[in-house]
Amino acid sequence: MSGRRAEKRVAVVKGDGVGPEVIESALLVLEASSIDLDQVPVDLGFGRWERTGKAMTEEDVDLIKGCDCVLFGAVTTPPDPDYRSVLLTLRKELDLYANIRPFYKGKIDLVIVRENTEGMYTGIEDVDEARATTLRVITRSGSERIAEKACQITSSRRKLTIVHKSNVLKSDSLFLRTCRDTADLWSIPYQDMLVDAAAYNLVIGPEKFDVIVTTNLFGDILSDVAAGIIGGLGLCPSANLGERYALFEPIHGSAPDIAGKGVANPVGAIRSAAMMLEWFGEVEKARRIEVAVNDTLNAGLKTPDLGGYLTTEEVTGAVVKLLRRS
Ligand code: NAI
Ligand code: MG
Repeated sequence: MSGRRAEKRVAVVKGDGVGPEVIESALLVLEASSIDLDQVPVDLGFGRWERTGKAMTEEDVDLIKGCDCVLFGAVTTPPDPDYRSVLLTLRKELDLYANIRPFYKGKIDLVIVRENTEGMYTGIEDVDEARATTLRVITRSGSERIAEKACQITSSRRKLTIVHKSNVLKSDSLFLRTCRDTADLWSIPYQDMLVDAAAYNLVIGPEKFDVIVTTNLFGDILSDVAAGIIGGLGLCPSANLGERYALFEPIHGSAPDIAGKGVANPVGAIRSAAMMLEWFGEVEKARRIEVAVNDTLNAGLKTPDLGGYLTTEEVTGAVVKLLRRS
């Protein structure tokens, strides 16, 4: 093979259910943004497991490691007790320690920065009939790097909120202390909040938050709360960042209840593609996608989950049309 190496090599994992439908939309929007991408399709997930008995292999991981980043749809969890989550494995293999989830609508503009590799999701568990334990691990280095990422994001914004449960969990005292130390070093204005109070305050006054940094499980839950507040899972993108790799995905799952009907909301996947462009340094192109998506939604062009009546294809077409015009 000859020819010029396209600017960025992106592993494209469409996955299962609505995954392929919304990733198709994201790819159309990238094409309309005149982005030179080298796409490497990688087939992972439940469909793959049904066909071959494996949801993902070491070769797949190697293929992905040969790329700059991953654009990921969603995967269905197979009914297999020995199944190890594809996403958890990828987050670990690529050391994607920072899960960044922006949420905005009207006056609400907040970012949840979730630690992605430790906390309750270590997989260190001991289960028998009478007793089951899960080991929650918080390290200084793990807390430090997520706090730094949060401070970096807050430095161009307003204020950091450290969310924890240190009144009960000793492990969270370490998290809180480390985040405070890091915010002091960065001279970032911050407050801290217990996770239950944070859940309450998010519901009654989401516009008061700016950047939230928290541990794995709390971030998982609070980000679904935030998604509900701004109008639904279908709208929300995310970035999973490490030092070397990144993975961009809508926060929703494979939505088997609506898969194949052509009505999945493509906005979360399209915004994930915009986050990917921003990560590449294509800030202006990312911004244009955001504007096109907002204008489309503001014009009432929406899928049924948002109370609209358009298909995935029609909403995508509207965004693409605006991009071609701009
Ligand atoms: P889900 O996010 O797939 O669906 C929850 C609800 O939101 C459903 O009613 C669905 O129709 C709706 N929804 C989700 N995405 C939508 C979209 N783009 N447009 C319109 N409506 C949308 O979560 P659920 O049902 O808990 O999980 C289904 C499968 O997805 C499971 O196998 C689960 O393990 C997997 N999953 C995968 C994730 C990933 O790959 N990142 C994340 C979450 C779940
Ligand atoms: Mg979740």
